[in-house]
Amino acid sequence: MLCTLSEILRDANERHYGVGAFNCLSLENVMGALEAAEELHSPIILQLAEVQFPEAPLELMAPLFLRAAERSSVPVCVHLDHGQSFETCARALRLGFTSVMFDGAALPFDENVRNTLLVARMAKAAGVDVEAELGRVGDSGVDTADVFTDVEESVRFVEATGVDALAIAIGNLHGHYIHTPQLNIRRLIEIHEANQLPLVLHGGSGTSVEDFKACIHNGICKINVATAIQRGIMKRICQRMEAEAEVGYIPLKQVMIDASREVVAEHIRLFESNDRVS
Ligand code: 13P
Repeated sequence: MLCTLSEILRDANERHYGVGAFNCLSLENVMGALEAAEELHSPIILQLAEVQFPEAPLELMAPLFLRAAERSSVPVCVHLDHGQSFETCARALRLGFTSVMFDGAALPFDENVRNTLLVARMAKAAGVDVEAELGRVGDSGVDTADVFTDVEESVRFVEATGVDALAIAIGNLHGHYIHTPQLNIRRLIEIHEANQLPLVLHGGSGTSVEDFKACIHNGICKINVATAIQRGIMKRICQRMEAEAEVGYIPLKQVMIDASREVVAEHIRLFESNDRVS
């Protein structure tokens, strides 16, 4: 069933588990992710980032996400990831997304507040939830994540914008890590103690099991995963093509569905969101 972000994260926040937010770029990806969530009785967040629109256009993916969510037996939030402008968030709202992220993390603090607030006012009027970001989550190979979210700023930001979830920077990076990162769990605890709202961890792929567990038990309720699914699907495709000289297109589609299901299921168990819905 289609749900908003706060409907899904309320329980996660109360009972200290994480809900996976999986970036899905194809039908096979979506089918596998939802099969995993249904088999494991877990809520799930399907998301698409603005940088992914060239390969997975928003207007084409939206009906797929929404229809899949409506016919699912588990709660599904359909979320815009890293919306870069007011206009992109408005497009997602118009298409029926139940949650949008406005990413103003690269902006000066006051500008991030102003722009996030504009998106939040529009989204609230439409009954849609908002995630925002404070601090800089780096990109692997480009940045080091040395700009952690400031605790005092996080309180001012949440009060000023009224967002439903906040993405924080605690040493996490998007993409493939060269070394497994060590997250700053102390900073997470401080941010969590100072704020009531659900916190979000971006750059989930490649995080250690210990850090995942420390995160979900200290306030992280939404965990974004993209690279791990893409790598998992590619691995299975390569294995199949090495094993079979001429693989048909239809069997390969099934390989992609199965791989998506496997990777998503593994993360659902890791985030302890299995067996949370009847
Ligand atoms: P990864 O690609 O590192 O899993 O990050 C995904 C993400 O944070 C999307 O917003």
